[in-house]
Amino acid sequence: SAAFPDERERTLIAIKPDGVQRRLVGQIMQRFEQRGFKLVGLKMLQVSEDLLSQHYCELRTKPFYPSLLDYMSSGPVVVMVWEGHKVVQTSRTMVGHTNPAEAQAGTVRGDFSFHVSRNVVHASDSPEGAQREIQLWFQSKELLKWECCDQTITC
Ligand code: TYD
Ligand code: MG
Repeated sequence: SAAFPDERERTLIAIKPDGVQRRLVGQIMQRFEQRGFKLVGLKMLQVSEDLLSQHYCELRTKPFYPSLLDYMSSGPVVVMVWEGHKVVQTSRTMVGHTNPAEAQAGTVRGDFSFHVSRNVVHASDSPEGAQREIQLWFQSKELLKWECCDQTITC
């Protein structure tokens, strides 16, 4: 609509293996729902080494890269696409600093983690990055368009 020209912006959010194992999936998803973003894609999977190496290709020379890939393949992840006005930037704020020791209370990382090697959640860092990651993780038919049937609910 005219009021929200970029309301179709999308981002990729993933709940990492520690988040799944610690039963945090519901609480994390609830934060995005209550903020008013729209869930347009959702799945749970054991991530392949191939997908992880593409997802984190910019980090392949970092010293923590091998342990990052081990961690990310240590169990299933829940990956989601959320849509809405400035969703990329707002999600980064909601997720908090990469290093949970620096993350504000009230953010996902600030509330649920204390170490960078187990920071619970991934969020795309730019609209361009989000587009690349969404194409990597989802087929277009897995992304669903939907509207609210009850007009008393804000869509
Ligand atoms: P990065 O993309 O820099 O952070 P973010 O997830 O906030 O976008 O790094 C990707 C992941 O790599 C990060 O979530 C956790 C891991 N990581 C480490 O294990 N050690 C580090 O020093 C950094 C910078 C990241
Ligand atoms: Mg990143």
